Amino acid sequence: MSLLILGIESSCDETGVALVRLQDLSEGGAVPTLLSHALHSQIEMHQAYGGVVPELASRDHIRRVLPLTEAVLAESGQQLADVDVVAFTRGPGLAGALLVGAGVACALGAALDKPVLGIHHLEGHLLSPFLSADPPTFPFIALLVSGGHTQLMRVDGVGAYEILGETIDDAAGEAFDKSAKLMGLGYPGGPALSKLALEGDPQAFKLPRPLLHSGDLDFSFAGLKTAVLTQARKLGDELPARKADLAASTEAAIVDVLVKKTLAALKQTGMQRVVVAGGVGANRLLRAQLNAACAKMKVRVHYPELHLCTDNGAMIAMAAAMRIQSGREQPVAHYAFDVKPRWPLDSLA
Ligand code: KG4
Ligand code: ZN
Repeated sequence: MSLLILGIESSCDETGVALVRLQDLSEGGAVPTLLSHALHSQIEMHQAYGGVVPELASRDHIRRVLPLTEAVLAESGQQLADVDVVAFTRGPGLAGALLVGAGVACALGAALDKPVLGIHHLEGHLLSPFLSADPPTFPFIALLVSGGHTQLMRVDGVGAYEILGETIDDAAGEAFDKSAKLMGLGYPGGPALSKLALEGDPQAFKLPRPLLHSGDLDFSFAGLKTAVLTQARKLGDELPARKADLAASTEAAIVDVLVKKTLAALKQTGMQRVVVAGGVGANRLLRAQLNAACAKMKVRVHYPELHLCTDNGAMIAMAAAMRIQSGREQPVAHYAFDVKPRWPLDSLA
């Protein structure tokens, strides 16, 4: 028996829809496969405001979700009636945006008389490397670095997540975005800052590495943003000419902390495997430095495919498939959905 799973992501500023085929229902059996996925990014729409406008995000998800569903069905040669399970992002995220995906998923499920699963967005990111050509195996250390979260976790299996450390203020993605914004690089700043950093000197400015020697696995990035602001002000008229140096120094500081804390988590747990997930996992410098450090320690590093690092529907369908495979799925009762804008990952089972 095989299952066709439709995944819908609408937690923030991307509408993502995907179809995943689960062939082998046994735990530890064959990895589910991605048939098709489609994405609409709202970045252009929000750019004019310098950040995500929640109400506009919800309205746009409403416009996009069904056409994207039709697109993934057509691309994979499937009919809506072939769908066996519908999965959606239940949280964390923007309440209004989440409600769009939840409402559509439950309406489709009710119409098809098929189960609907509410998936944790970060579990989706965490399991997205299983869709890559080089999937990991459990257990592993996960470095989860998105726009809203920075966490180091110990992952022993689906639903077995222990937080080892996390940010006490800004997330790594936020540090990229806020630093980029005050350098006038627009939103979302991570990719833009990283691109500009290629032309700069990462040692040009001494920026703080917060909590680097704190002895625990927590992060703090708020001070870094202030240091970047202070440096930018000090440069004054010189800023345009030194922007690439400042970008490179900022990126180096963020990546340095992420890599060193990940290595500390590996040493602390004795684990031999790392999974990097979330939007910042697309960062070129992070990948290069982590790969180099882990190669020395003979630790394997796994990433999602580059195009699946940021938000997408594939990771939601994949997490649903792996939950079903491990017998940990909990269908929405009577299609009476709710969403969880705040939802700690380690509360899952
Ligand atoms: O996981 P994600 O798509 O959304 C959330 O769940 O938050 O992550 C978005 C974050 C943004 O902060 C964005 O600036 C950052 O990921 N990001 C990057 C890069 N690509 C995306 N940061 C640094 N370098 C990149 N190449
Ligand atoms: Zn995300």
